[in-house]
Amino acid sequence: MTPHISAQPQDFAKTVLMPGDPRRAKFIAENYLTDARLVTDVRGMLGYTGTYKGKPVSVMGSGMGMPSIGIYATELFKFYDVETIMRVGSCGAYQDDLKLYDIILAQGASTNGNFGAHFMPTGTFSALCDFELLYTAYNVGAKKGVKPHVGNVLSSDIFYHPIPDIWKSWSNLNVLAVEMETYALYTLAQSMGKKALSLLTVSDSLVTMEETSAKEREASFTAMMEIALETAYE
Ligand code: ADE
Repeated sequence: MTPHISAQPQDFAKTVLMPGDPRRAKFIAENYLTDARLVTDVRGMLGYTGTYKGKPVSVMGSGMGMPSIGIYATELFKFYDVETIMRVGSCGAYQDDLKLYDIILAQGASTNGNFGAHFMPTGTFSALCDFELLYTAYNVGAKKGVKPHVGNVLSSDIFYHPIPDIWKSWSNLNVLAVEMETYALYTLAQSMGKKALSLLTVSDSLVTMEETSAKEREASFTAMMEIALETAYE
C-alpha cells in the first residue's frame, strides 16, 4: 500500500489505463473488462483489475492536472511494478483540421508548467511517448478505420487561462491540442524506464468554440477505449 493507493502489491496488472475521471474508470471496468474487481478507492480514486480477452488489465482514475497524475503514476510505476500506463482522456483542439471526437495520439507533450524542472533544472526536457505503443495504437486505429492524428500536445497547468489568445502561440508551433496531464506522465515514464502513451478524444475546439456535452463525451470515447485495449492486448 502507498499513501494514495490501498491495493495489495500484486493487485495491478502490468498495463493500466488511466482516464481522468474515476467514474469513467468504473465504467470502463464494468463495460470492457471481464471479472473486474475494485483494488483501490482512496479519496474516491477508483482502480480496478480485470481481464481483456484473457489478458490482465487495470484501469484507474488519474484526477485532473499534472500533480494528480504525477502522484498516481509514480506510485503505480514504483511500488506496483506497473510497466505501461495509457492515458485515455479528452483534449481541446488547437488546429482547424481537428474535428470533435477525432482521436489524437500524443507523440510528445509540451507544457506551460514546471513539472520537468524537478527532473532537469538546467534545461527543457522534451517529454515523448513510447514509440512501440504509438506505432501499435496507430495501426490498431487505422485497421478500425479510425485514422488517429499524431503530434505534440500542450499539458497546461491552467484550464481557465487569463490571457484569451495565448493558445494561438502553441497552435502556431503546430501543437495539436491542449489537455492537462501528459507531460507529467511521459516525464515520469521516461525517468523510470517505463512506457506511456496518451490517447485523447477531441471534446472541444479553441478554433471553432464547439464543445461536447458530458453525455456525448461518454458515448464518443468508445473508439479510443477500443484502441487502448487492443494496444494493451498486442
Ligand atoms: N481537456 C479537454 N478540453 C480541454 C481544454 N480546453 N483545456 C484543457 N484541458 C482540456
